[in-house]
Amino acid sequence: MSGTFYVTTPIYYVNAAPHIGHAYTTIVADVLNRFHRLAGEKTFFLTGTDEHGDKIAAAAEKEGQTPKEYVDRISGLFRDLWPKLNISNDYFVRTTDRAHKDVVRIILDRVNQKGDIYYSDYEGLYCFGCERFYTERELVDGKCPDHLTEPEVIREANYFFRMSRYQDWLVDHIEKNPDFIRPERYKNEVLAFLREPLEDLCISRPKSRLEWGITLPFDDRFVTYVWFDALINYISALGFPDGERFKTYWPAAQHMIAKDILKPHGIYWPCMLRSAGIEPYRHLNVHGYWNINEGKMSKSLGNVVRPLDLVDIYGLDAFRYFLLRDMVFGLDSEFSEEALVARINADLANDLGNLVSRALTMVHKYFKGELPKGGAPDREDDELRESALALLDPYDRHMRELGFHKALIAVWELIGKVNKYIDTTAPWVLAKKDRERLATVLFHVVEVLKVVSGLLWPFMPASAEKIQEQLGLGKKGAQLTLSDLARWGGEKPVRPLCRAPALFPRVEEKERKRRAQAAEKVAEEKPMEIISFDEFKKLDLRVGIIREAQAIPKSKKLLRLTVDVGETRTVVAGLAGHYNPNELVGRQVVLVANLAPAKLMGVESQGMILAAVDDGGVHLLAPDGRVEAGCRVS
Ligand code: ME8
Repeated sequence: MSGTFYVTTPIYYVNAAPHIGHAYTTIVADVLNRFHRLAGEKTFFLTGTDEHGDKIAAAAEKEGQTPKEYVDRISGLFRDLWPKLNISNDYFVRTTDRAHKDVVRIILDRVNQKGDIYYSDYEGLYCFGCERFYTERELVDGKCPDHLTEPEVIREANYFFRMSRYQDWLVDHIEKNPDFIRPERYKNEVLAFLREPLEDLCISRPKSRLEWGITLPFDDRFVTYVWFDALINYISALGFPDGERFKTYWPAAQHMIAKDILKPHGIYWPCMLRSAGIEPYRHLNVHGYWNINEGKMSKSLGNVVRPLDLVDIYGLDAFRYFLLRDMVFGLDSEFSEEALVARINADLANDLGNLVSRALTMVHKYFKGELPKGGAPDREDDELRESALALLDPYDRHMRELGFHKALIAVWELIGKVNKYIDTTAPWVLAKKDRERLATVLFHVVEVLKVVSGLLWPFMPASAEKIQEQLGLGKKGAQLTLSDLARWGGEKPVRPLCRAPALFPRVEEKERKRRAQAAEKVAEEKPMEIISFDEFKKLDLRVGIIREAQAIPKSKKLLRLTVDVGETRTVVAGLAGHYNPNELVGRQVVLVANLAPAKLMGVESQGMILAAVDDGGVHLLAPDGRVEAGCRVS
């Protein structure tokens, strides 16, 4: 083992289901973690959920659940998603874990004993979405830049962390460690912020306003501010202060975040660590946003793309590859399904998929899977070998510097070279006249495939392992380390090589639609599943009154409804053709009110209307008497 590596994702808020922004950060962390395993390092990978604070308490209330019931459910959605995205996290931390809460109290006590906490009256502009006070300077047109809402003026007595004390130390630390925050643009952003005097941080919330949090160890009338609580997960999950894991991994810590949470990670967290007498983390790695139609995808804006929908249609590794190949780490990227399909067809189906399938078909056809080493290499063979081996260093550098797209471009250059090598050496011609030369050529092709599969393993673990399986290798995945890959011809097959079915079938437009429909059908045809009463109770059914109904342009099936359930919801329902929009207005309906929002034909649907469906059509369900809008169905 050479060295240790520790990577974390943000712990995600449990106020809504995961979308591709969360999937991206977690997949990037996974790719980096797997790369370090490939490099033979001892690794630890942490993700989890952030479960305290106003936002969560409000979301729970909205859904008629206690905060605890609510956080258990949504945290479960995150926890269940990660294995489906082949995420190799070693631990899943929750801020409601007892062990975490204990560590938060230890840190608060330490910081307090250091004299870094004081009690004071404060009036400020508070954004409930961000759960923090804003200074006038930080607002854009008087609004929170993230939530685009005006903050409220709040005046209350609270505890404050003397962050200002650490300003000079932090500037000095960032300047002495230029890759502490990377890429550089984010380091510069933090330094620019630190050019102004740093204000102290309000770290408590009175229980009269918010109970859902960790009680301060020195004043039980207050709970801890959610960010002060949440950041500590990165050490509580390692068993701070005495855990072996903390000692082993903390010195190698790297946090992976998007730019939305640069300030808490780039400023609050190092100051908190410094005050508590703990070394700062090694790197803060900051990426940009996935945007949709040029706006940030976010839960609060309601324009989310759900990762599993894409994985069901296109396959997991295609999805992982696309995310890593299309985003330059640090910059924003525009998400589109067209771009995803283009990548699958060009890079995966054409370049990589064809290479694997033609190479293995030839080894099978000409040598029945038992490939001899062949004769002395020619110049073109040597060139190919050198290209493959010369890739290892830049690949290693790109990965460590978070240039994931560059690493992939470099691998694809090699794939291009070997495809060309096959075309020029024409093994199908050699098969008729020179079997020794044929063996030499195929030996070189197969060796390059080993290198390619090894380097792609962090990105597309399942596909890479499939290739390694087909190459008959004894070692797979992280067992096949970068130093194994550097030994040309060193990893001998332990089984005959076998012919490969297409790894990445092309996605034609028609095919895309067929797959989407098939995925829907599979979901519909699942056998009846028995659920418990507790699970049933999670459904929030409400009586609503339809206030408006309109056709959705270009859709034969869908209507856009405005439904009054005590509050106004937009619902997209497949009622066109069964009901005239006009006859729906004023009708009572039953609405599933706590369904995650979904976008249909560009319109976000905030619930689902219940109907009985038979051969005669669709029949809306409604109570048999007039009730108030929003009345619960139980
Ligand atoms: O901020 N593009 O949680 P959160 C890329 N609980 N990444 C995105 C994204 C987008 N459009 N939207 C979200 C919190 N993300 C706190 C963190 S850590 C101690 C506490 C990803 O659920 C990205 O990683 O709002 C971003 O930083 C994170 O989700 C925010 O997640």
